[in-house]
Amino acid sequence: MSKKIIRRSWAEPYRMKMVELLRMTTRAQRLKAIRAAGYNTFLLKSQDVYIDLLTDSGTSAMSSEQWAGMMMGDEAYAGSMNYYHLEDAIHKYYGYKYIIPTHQGRGAENILSQILIKKGDIIPGNMYFTTTRLHQELAGGKFVDVIIDEAHDPQSLHPFKGNVDLDKLESVVKTYGAKRIPYVCIATNVNMAGGQPISIANLKDLRAVTSRHGIRIIHDMTRVAENAYFIQQRERGYSNKTIAQIVKEICSLTDGATMSAKKDALVNIGGFLATNEWDVFEEARNLVVVYEGLHTYGGLAGRDMEAMAIGIGESVNDAHQAARVGQVEYLGTKMQEYGVPIVLPIGGHGVFVDAKAFLPHVQQENFPAQVLAAEIYLDSGVRTMERGIVSAGRRPNGKNYNPKLELVRFTIPRRVYTQAHMDVVAESAATVYEKRKKITGLNMVYEPKYLRYFQSRFERL
Ligand code: F0G
Repeated sequence: MSKKIIRRSWAEPYRMKMVELLRMTTRAQRLKAIRAAGYNTFLLKSQDVYIDLLTDSGTSAMSSEQWAGMMMGDEAYAGSMNYYHLEDAIHKYYGYKYIIPTHQGRGAENILSQILIKKGDIIPGNMYFTTTRLHQELAGGKFVDVIIDEAHDPQSLHPFKGNVDLDKLESVVKTYGAKRIPYVCIATNVNMAGGQPISIANLKDLRAVTSRHGIRIIHDMTRVAENAYFIQQRERGYSNKTIAQIVKEICSLTDGATMSAKKDALVNIGGFLATNEWDVFEEARNLVVVYEGLHTYGGLAGRDMEAMAIGIGESVNDAHQAARVGQVEYLGTKMQEYGVPIVLPIGGHGVFVDAKAFLPHVQQENFPAQVLAAEIYLDSGVRTMERGIVSAGRRPNGKNYNPKLELVRFTIPRRVYTQAHMDVVAESAATVYEKRKKITGLNMVYEPKYLRYFQSRFERL
């Protein structure tokens, strides 16, 4: 009997004309490598990695158009034409008035935090991101989480786990007063929640509340196009809109943005700060020369700005996002079939394995997600990342943040790996899952002061 067509598949809207060869290793080689790396996947050499799912940041494959753009780099110190192309792309696709390029997202976060935050200020946000919160704290501010409770529950099927709980926000305003809140920090497709979107309806309500209190919304737009894709798929009234239209609408509901262009915008390096306020722009334009470079290059080469301008346009293409998020969904579904516990709904930039459910016998202070990432690497050479207690770090008073979510992130670079790679990854996760009872925790033996997850070292218990 012939098979009935039950769905029409997406396929990658591109073909390959250059490939990068991968190196395979033996388990003995990997054991040596992970020990030398102190059981921290950030400290592995990429040459020892087979399939690299550490991050989607700066790891995307550029298009032939972008590479052609690289050859058009106008490497002038001041007023490079590529800067003006970037400015045009940001006006066209995002709509913010003023822009400052920076070398990457945290460069923009640093400048924005220094300008807007005074000592003692409060910054509510829809879950923290590591560098964003640290810059808020270094500027004297305090981050307060106002995301909906569902975001902290790996099993909740809420379609918009990135939404802000407006009651939580109102109570923060009541407690501290609007004057101490320079802005609400809103990430689209919230990274630490598992790549989970915020809805337009929630953003509109948030806009109404913040306008009433005279508080800005600053948009961490690192993965705005992925968020727009979920809105198109899930939100009432948006199924006929293009991702480009939805992205523009999201931006129009906010007052300014920081962007790590290394994700959505398909470049290996780059970012920017955007604002609709002249005063903020004027200060940022001055401060950028202290930390990054002149305001028409912000730490980037002309060619980097050109690639970014082109990548922004490609990122809002509907077929691109359908394949990009479709690939993540493919991996997540495969893992689910093997019974591996993952964060649901499956996110936009990666599959997040729930290490608490995977290794219930390992206490959070023995770093279940950290050890799980090491075990996956040992099994197959697949590199993933801890997103749990190590990433969360310590409060300014020295105590651990102890996040509810203890996750291992399998992050998919854009346009890099094939479905066959995803099969290998899912099978590796399933193999480790079968052996889960034998896995024990870790001890942290070295801990740097800032963003410890990048450089901390561990030993087996
Ligand atoms: N905001 C979000 C939501 C991010 O995911 C990142 C980076 C940044 C800001 C900082 O940008 O790295 O360009 O300085 N996330 C990377 C990751 C590191 O792996 O998730 P950056």
